[in-house]
Amino acid sequence: MKKILLAIGLLAAVLDGVSQQVSIVPKPQEITVTDGQFFRLSTATTVSSGKGTEKSAKFLKDYLAKIYNIVLDNKRSAKSAIILKIESNKNAIPGSYSLTSTTSGITVIGVDAEGVFYGVQSIIQILPADFNGEVSVPVVKISDAPRFQYRGLMLDCGRHFMPVDFVKKYIDLIALHKMNTFHWHLTEDQGWRIEIKKYPKLTEVGAWRNGSIIGHHPGKGNDETKSGGFYTQEEVKDIVKYAADRYITVIPEIEMPGHSSAAIAAYPELSCFPDQPTQVLPGVTWYGPRDGKEVQQSWGVYPDIFVPSENTFKFLEDVLSEIIPLFPSKYVHIGGDEAPKDYWKKSEFCQKLIKEKGLKDEEGLQSYFIHRIEKYLNSKGKQIIGWDEILEGGLAPNATVMSWRGEEGGISAAKQKHNVIMTPGKYVYLDHAQRKNEDSVTIGGYLPVQQVYGYEPVPKELSADEQKYVLGAQGNVWTEYMTVPAKVEYMVFPRLAALSEVLWTQPANKNYTDFTKRLDEELKRYRKWDVNYCKDFSGQPDQ
Ligand code: ACM
Repeated sequence: MKKILLAIGLLAAVLDGVSQQVSIVPKPQEITVTDGQFFRLSTATTVSSGKGTEKSAKFLKDYLAKIYNIVLDNKRSAKSAIILKIESNKNAIPGSYSLTSTTSGITVIGVDAEGVFYGVQSIIQILPADFNGEVSVPVVKISDAPRFQYRGLMLDCGRHFMPVDFVKKYIDLIALHKMNTFHWHLTEDQGWRIEIKKYPKLTEVGAWRNGSIIGHHPGKGNDETKSGGFYTQEEVKDIVKYAADRYITVIPEIEMPGHSSAAIAAYPELSCFPDQPTQVLPGVTWYGPRDGKEVQQSWGVYPDIFVPSENTFKFLEDVLSEIIPLFPSKYVHIGGDEAPKDYWKKSEFCQKLIKEKGLKDEEGLQSYFIHRIEKYLNSKGKQIIGWDEILEGGLAPNATVMSWRGEEGGISAAKQKHNVIMTPGKYVYLDHAQRKNEDSVTIGGYLPVQQVYGYEPVPKELSADEQKYVLGAQGNVWTEYMTVPAKVEYMVFPRLAALSEVLWTQPANKNYTDFTKRLDEELKRYRKWDVNYCKDFSGQPDQ
């Protein structure tokens, strides 16, 4: 009897070991594991990459060399091989793949190059998270496909500039979660972050602020330290290529007409009132000169927005004409959020323009502004994305709406047959605290992992026909209170794991308890990848 119990115990331990190793996040649509059988990788293992799979092969080889010190060969070998190939299937969901491992090798077949890349991400996740010298993967059969075509994560590099190396690490982490879009927020009141050759002052002046508030807005003083930075166009090209090698599209965001204090500090004629000093919000301790236009030193929403003059449109078209060749993405995000109309109301020029163009009011003027920019971008083969305020005063004809103030904007846009990306604050604002007693400064709010996990991006209010306009969802990472990369990681992880499953996995396959078990293994991988994640994330959502 004792022997039997021991045998059962051993078997359970082995099975537990197996089930622990197969902890893929996001969960694949179908997976079967053959217990107790493994394929062992070694330097004798070769990788054979079919046409179109070279980037995935390189990613896998680099990963195995870096993490496990295993250098794969490119030669074919029947004995111990990883085979990557594409078998096109026009009827399949783009990004679909199958992964089969036997005791002698692994085969990944993608319906396209992305599919192969996602298969490689699954290989990475069935490799041992605890490395004890032997590198083997269990015998499995996976058949997988993404639920949504748009699976995004944003990073605000305006509030705090983030170094190139970190942007690349962020892109790697997006890729490891089978997500495919990096929304790069590049211009803000507190800093303009991209080199524009025709307007050098954007980065000479607009990329730097003389000080930053200390603590939560309006702050307890000012650090009196100049800070900032920007990406050269060469760095941008390098980052965009780095992302493309990981099947990630980079969507640049150039904010207009609001959140434009940094651009106005560089070129005051972009304001309705060029001679009026920059407004400092009540309670903010300012450092340095404040009698002209300055880059903002605290957070929030500011009334000094772009004047809709021909000069401004020329400026924006010039800026966009330098942006377009840098980003192959079909979309350019033009912001559109939080543009107070106080200055437009007071401006004689704006009031005259409203009359001349037969517009209803200042919201009509914002709509006119966005329509003009859309027309320009469409003429260059690009589509616009805007925050849901672009619905106000009438949506531009081809615009995609990013719904952030809840889901209402997205619902309304989908009903108007416009594409929608869901980013409601309650579920995907990763700047909110992920635990109740957060002891670092955050913007506020409470968004535990479980609440992210429970998010359903397709609102019930939409008919079956309207639902197809929901392209997917995105996590937003606003960096007012994230001054360094380690804090960004702390805020993003492990919530990104939950979001990736929202975006990839069919609802019927989702289960929070099962997710948390797989997350235990994912956390080991985070440690391997040197990711600073929040450890106390098990709080319950508020009702
Ligand atoms: C936003 O959070 N202001 C889009």
